[in-house]
Amino acid sequence: MRVAVYPGSFDPITHGHLDVIRRAVVVFERVHVAVLVNPRKSPLFDDEQRLGSIREALSETLGEAAGRVETAVFDGLTVDFARRVQAGFIVRGLRAVSDFEFELQMAHTNRKLAPEVDTVFFMTALEYSYLSSTLVKEIARFGGDVSAMVPAAVARRLTG
Ligand code: PNS
Repeated sequence: MRVAVYPGSFDPITHGHLDVIRRAVVVFERVHVAVLVNPRKSPLFDDEQRLGSIREALSETLGEAAGRVETAVFDGLTVDFARRVQAGFIVRGLRAVSDFEFELQMAHTNRKLAPEVDTVFFMTALEYSYLSSTLVKEIARFGGDVSAMVPAAVARRLTG
């Protein structure tokens, strides 16, 4: 079975992330969306809120393919999580050339740590290529409209 991990902070999940998941379930039979618990960062949303938003968004937008997507929080290395769930691939999204350098570094590092796990990139749809969780949080903080950028459940959490 082709199994992939899609790791990230997802603070919060955006339509850009969902676009990557939609593309990944076409290629992989099972996709684990893995939310990083990073004790050095202070996310706006805690693990459970981020996980809850992802689950709601998946069932709202993915239809029956949502049954092939697992969600979990993890700490430590992405490759260790990948090994734990027996995933042979790490999925990441690329929005623009500016993402490439960091993603290349991460992919090579992960390959060094776990040569049996390969990284696969999906190009995010053009209409989401400007999106980032950081900008979404900033817009919401200053009262801007984020409804076109994030799933409804996230928009409610950001404004409520
Ligand atoms: O959504 P993000 O913040 O761009 O995701 C970054 C993430 C979670 C994929 C990356 O920070 C990560 O894999 N962290 C886990 C620690 C790890 O495995 N580090 C070595 C890989 S460079």
